[in-house]
Order: sequence, then structure tokens, then C-alpha cells
Amino acid sequence: MARAVVAVVLAAGEGKRMRTQGPKVLVDLLGRPLLWHVLAALPANCRKRIVVGGRTLAQLRDIFGAERGVEFARQAKPLGTAHAVRSALKQVPAKGADVLIVCGDAPLIRRETLEAALAAHRRTGADVTVLSAKVADPTGLGRIIRGSDGRLLRIVEQKDCSADQLRISEINAGQFVVRAEALHRLLPQVGRNNAQREYYLTDLVALAGAKAQAFLLADAEEARGVNQPDELDAARRLLQARILHRLRAGGVIIPAPEHVVVESGVEVGEGTVLHPFVVLRSGATIAARCSVGPCAVLRKGARLDEGARVGNFVEVKASRLGQRAKVLHLSYLGDADVGADVNVGAGTITANFDGVAKHRTRIGAGVSVGAGTIFVAPVKVADKARTGAGAVVTRDIGRGATVVGVPARPLGAKTKVRRHK
Ligand code: UD1
Ligand code: MG
Repeated sequence: MARAVVAVVLAAGEGKRMRTQGPKVLVDLLGRPLLWHVLAALPANCRKRIVVGGRTLAQLRDIFGAERGVEFARQAKPLGTAHAVRSALKQVPAKGADVLIVCGDAPLIRRETLEAALAAHRRTGADVTVLSAKVADPTGLGRIIRGSDGRLLRIVEQKDCSADQLRISEINAGQFVVRAEALHRLLPQVGRNNAQREYYLTDLVALAGAKAQAFLLADAEEARGVNQPDELDAARRLLQARILHRLRAGGVIIPAPEHVVVESGVEVGEGTVLHPFVVLRSGATIAARCSVGPCAVLRKGARLDEGARVGNFVEVKASRLGQRAKVLHLSYLGDADVGADVNVGAGTITANFDGVAKHRTRIGAGVSVGAGTIFVAPVKVADKARTGAGAVVTRDIGRGATVVGVPARPLGAKTKVRRHK
């Protein structure tokens, strides 16, 4: 029978160097917590994913508890990475599985890479496979020590390195594949006789002897961990480049990629143009042949249908714009459904919040919204209706009707409208 894959995700560190309030693994990286990125990179066939949390385990549970196959283990005190894995050992099968151990603070690792490392581990019959990388600046990381024949010997942490060892550029990327049998046998043998008095997971390598090997990453960037704010910024740049690359490959046009922010998971269709200073938050979806920006923010639940256009200084949240709908200048659409072929005039606002709850604005197809209209939600506008400039719409508008004024009333009825010559 094929061996199972079980993942252990280390997330109990206190993140002191990061200076954050909550757990470091919940720090935001392009719209999702660090830990989210790591979980997303685990091979699809993982039988279970055990997240090791510490003092802040409850917070991790709140956010990830509902995810399929995710379970939790508590590390009472952060006594080191090997100690963290020991806290989860009861949940790891004693045999017949390969255990993928990953750091919750290394969000750039790719799923294909983890799968390739797992395949290499199985092919060679190793007990311990550590993912390694050659980096320009190894400061702070565990160094990979090899014998004169190139064979992997052990890993030495920065604080335990000799001057010679500090010059080694091959480092521990922070991910391991370990045979379950070997993990249960070796982990109890890890001591804390080192500069930090911690139980180091990296000691598994020396303990496994000839049964340990390194899997060198082709792309060293995947090894990047986030321990302090500058590293978070570096990770953000790399992930942003990946996201924009993926969009470009799908036919999205981005004339000034250095001036857009596209968070994780945003889908954008072919032929859509993202102009400078556009921010697309996680949970925004844009169909083909749309145009966004310059200077526009699409937040969670923003959805543009094919050919829709969002222009300068426009914010869209939890709103859908139908095909070819246009909102080109200085507007806020929140909790709105805008039909096809609607033109939303400059300076239009959906007043969606009454101080207590949010309400929706529903605008039918072919509606013409005059400049400076305010929709006081909840409110419904039927197809082909029109609002005059500056209308404050507090009541529903019927099909084809025109309303004007404050509060807006049907044109003609009781309102006298003075027209300029
Ligand atoms: C660790 C590795 C180092 C490697 C680097 C890669 C060890 C001893 N060192 O160092 O060789 O180059 O990652 O990024 O393994 N954690 C716990 N419980 C603890 C301590 C840590 O769950 O008691 C978790 C942290 O939340 C983090 C991960 O383990 O997600 C790594 O811990 P961290 O303190 O960041 O180790 P590094 O110094 O980065
Ligand atoms: Mg780290």
C-alpha cells in the first residue's frame, strides 16, 4: 500500500523579532496570513495537516479550524523546533507514512517543490530529507555542513557556527521529509546542548547519519523565511512578482507593474487592463476585457463582469458590476448590484451603512446614474431608470422612471424642475 503523507506545520514560535502583537504566522502577506500560504503549498494528498501552535493556538484555531484535514497540537512552551514536532508526535502515525515538516513562517515554498522533495525522499529511501538552498546572505540561518566528499553531515545553527562555518552559503530552507518510523525513533534523542538551549529539529540530520540527504532548491527564493519586517517586505515583492507573472501569462495587461498591488487569489480575465495604482484585494474577481484604474481599489467581493470599466478614484466593495457597466470617476460602490450597461456618473456614492448595519443597493440594467447621486440603501432601481445630478435616492425607483432632487422624486409628478435655456 502506498505510504501516506502527513504534514506538521510549525507555528508556535513567538515571533519576537517581528514585533507583532498576535502570532507571527498570522501576519498578512498580500491578503492572507503567512500560515495560509504555507498550508496552500502542502501536497493535495496530505492525509492530515497538523498545525503546532503555542500560547496563541486559539487564534489559529479560529481562523483555520474549519479547513478540511487541519488539526492542531499545542506546544506548551516554545523550546525549539524539535520540541514543537514532539508536541504533535501523538498525532503522527508510527509507521507507513512520510512526514512533511514545514515552517509556518516560510510562505514562498511551492507545492511542486514539496512534491518533488517527497518523491526524491521516497526514491532514495532516505530517513531524513532536508530542503536546502544556496543563498547570497545566509545570516541567521542554519548552515548545511558537508564532508569533503560532499556528503551531508549535519546542520549547524547560526549561533553555534564557527567562523569557517559562517561562510557556508548552503542553508536549511526549513522543510523536512522524514519517514514516520525514523521520526518516532530519532526525535526523543534530540538534546538541547547548544547556544540557545533549544531542541533543534535540525539535529535530526546528524542523528540519521548516512540516511540523511539534502534536496537542493532550484530557486533559492523559496527558502525565504519571515523573521523580521524587512524579510516580510522581501517575501511580499517575490510573491507579488509571481502573482503578476501568472496574470500576464493569462493575457492581463499591466503597463506599470511596479505600481499595482494584486493580492493572493485574485482572478483577472484575458485582455483586462490594470492601470497604474490599482489595488486588487483578495476576494476581488475581474472578468475578461475590463479596465481598472488608474487609482482604483477593488476590495473583497468586488466582481466585474466582462467589459466593465472602473476608472479613477473609485472604490468597489462587495459589489457586482454587470457587463459593460461603467463607473469612471470618484465613486464608492459598496454592497451594490449594478446591472449590465449601466453608466454611473462621477461622484456617485452608495450610502450602505446606517450606523448599525450594511444594506444593499440594487441597480437594474441600462440605468443612467447622474453625477453626484447618493443611494441611501436599502434601495432598488429598476431597469432603464435615470437619476438627475445630485439626486439623493431614498426610495425605490420604477422601471424607466426619472428621479431628481433631494430627496429624489419622479420628474414631472409634484416636482417642478427649472430648466436652463
Ligand atoms: C529555523 C531553522 C534554521 C533554518 C530556518 C529557515 C531550527 C533550529 N532552525 O530557524 O536552520 O535555516 O528555520 O527559515 O530549526 N517554532 C515553533 N516552536 C518553537 C520554535 C519555533 O513552533 O519552539 C516555529 C516557528 O513558529 C516558525 C518555525 O518553527 O514557524 C521556525 O522557527 P524560527 O524561530 O523562525 O527558526 P529560525 O531561526 O528561522
Ligand atoms: Mg524562521
